[in-house]
Amino acid sequence: MPRPLRVAIVGAGPAGIYAADALLKSEAASDPGVSIDLFERMPAPFGLIRYGVAPDHPRIKGIVTALHQVLDKPQVRLFGNVDYGTDIHLDDLRSFYDAVVFSTGAMADRELRIPGVELDGSLGAADFASWYDGHPDVPRTWDLSAEKVAVLGVGNVALDIARILAKTAEELLPTEIPPNVHEGLKANKALEVHVFGRRGPAQAKFSPMELRELDHSPNIEVIVNPEDIDYDEGSIAERRKNKQTDMVAKTLENWAIRDVGDRPHKLFLHFFEAPQEILGTDGKVVGLRTERTELDGTGNVKGTGRTTDWDVQAVYRAVGYLSDELPKLPWDVATGTVPDEGGRVIEEGGTHLSSTYVTGWIRRGPVGLIGHTKGDANETIAHLLEDHAAGRLQTPTTPAPEAVEAFLGERGVRFTTWEGWYRLDAAEKALGEPEGRERVKIVERDAMLDASGA
Ligand SMILES: Cc1cc2nc3c(=O)[nH]c(=O)nc-3n(C[C@H](O)[C@H](O)[C@H](O)COP(=O)(O)OP(=O)(O)OC[C@H]3O[C@@H](n4cnc5c(N)ncnc54)[C@H](O)[C@@H]3O)c2cc1C
Ligand SMILES: NC(=O)c1ccc[n+]([C@@H]2O[C@H](COP(=O)([O-])OP(=O)(O)OC[C@H]3O[C@@H](n4cnc5c(N)ncnc54)[C@H](OP(=O)(O)O)[C@@H]3O)[C@@H](O)[C@H]2O)c1
Repeated sequence: MPRPLRVAIVGAGPAGIYAADALLKSEAASDPGVSIDLFERMPAPFGLIRYGVAPDHPRIKGIVTALHQVLDKPQVRLFGNVDYGTDIHLDDLRSFYDAVVFSTGAMADRELRIPGVELDGSLGAADFASWYDGHPDVPRTWDLSAEKVAVLGVGNVALDIARILAKTAEELLPTEIPPNVHEGLKANKALEVHVFGRRGPAQAKFSPMELRELDHSPNIEVIVNPEDIDYDEGSIAERRKNKQTDMVAKTLENWAIRDVGDRPHKLFLHFFEAPQEILGTDGKVVGLRTERTELDGTGNVKGTGRTTDWDVQAVYRAVGYLSDELPKLPWDVATGTVPDEGGRVIEEGGTHLSSTYVTGWIRRGPVGLIGHTKGDANETIAHLLEDHAAGRLQTPTTPAPEAVEAFLGERGVRFTTWEGWYRLDAAEKALGEPEGRERVKIVERDAMLDASGA
């Protein structure tokens, strides 16, 4: 009797959910069908949409509504609060499934190797985002006593960090932030936020809309120094080639020539300042030393030897995210990704690790928007189905779907389900309702499990 193609997807962020969607929309989904189990280490799905996207971006958080349609399908099950490498291993997955797709994304800060990075007050953007987004596995308090703050990097994460630091707690209250985060933000003393790019305006990685949004807060005065507006041939070529780069540069130019207003929180966007050292006294951050850079003709920069010491009491590193290495899978240390070809996991020597695939940030590295993970997932799933059609997938010993629940039960794993997500979702919405807020996040892992009925 033919049985459905059994696929495990590890990581229920956007990439994993789009991979499930691609499977459901494939020809293989018709007779004898596909059967998909998503394993997720958090009690709730949605990855960085829940634990990365800033709380004052409700429209983007709303992408989960579209993703619901995938998880609502009867061919898909969610096993939340299940950590690959702890609760379930590659051999276990092989015994239950024809194929395994890893979409474990990225959750940590990439290292920045400059002196002083270990000082108290040198902080990771990923850690801060996890805190304000109510991630259960990070401390509940955050020191916001610094009046002057530096943010290193000019990508969209740096913008998120700078904006959250420069907004008032009252501006953020209508969002889904949990009570401990609102309390923490009320104590925020930041009056000046300085964002530093080591290259120029044409090399900033901001999205135009996210950049312009900085100016929408009645509390934030965005300031750009006219001396920081500079382009070389490489920059001009990039502006011609890329409309987004041109829009970002134009916005920065406009801000550089306007009069500075009197909104209470100043947010400075500095360019051509490469972080050189975080300065400390008695183990605490007291400043940041940057080296002035200049364009070299190609859009890259070289140091000038001229340094500036900035008076700041906290330094946030927003220089990129980093994925966790996955047990039993090959690993590229330089890129922090699983080596692949078209989504097929590639072992040393170049052979395909049979029946094993990757998609999303764990495949491509931590760059790109939520929507970009869709094309990536389509490519990976197309190759998985090609291997299936060619009879190249391994045959599992125990393909019966009930075997997975029994296995997790025997291991004592308190797993959540898709029905459990609806219960948690309803509980969070109920918490928000008395205050007229769409939801208030539940933070503690046990409380999430209880609300999910795990
Ligand atoms: C701070 C921040 C803000 C962002 N804001 C936006 C935005 O506003 N708009 C936008 O378009 N893009 C935004 N992005 C980018 C977007 O979040 C990513 O493009 C997208 O989330 C990548 O999807 P992914 O599924 O590959 O990874 P992730 O979203 O990281 O999902 C991976 C999932 O795998 C799970 N997982 C990890 N390890 C294991 C394991 N061992 N076992 C089981 N499960 C595991 C994780 O818990 C997670 O749920 C933002 C990114 C960051 C860092
Ligand atoms: N609202 C949104 O749409 C949103 C929000 C957040 C994140 N995202 C997306 O998520 C992805 C990740 O964002 P991200 O901001 O983490 O990464 P990013 O876009 O790659 O930006 C990283 C920044 O860090 C700088 N940097 C790296 N190493 C450095 C060093 N040693 N010293 C100084 N600066 C250094 C980079 O400068 P160089 O260019 O000089 O290397 C760059 O400005 C992006 O695709 C982003 O668009 C989107």
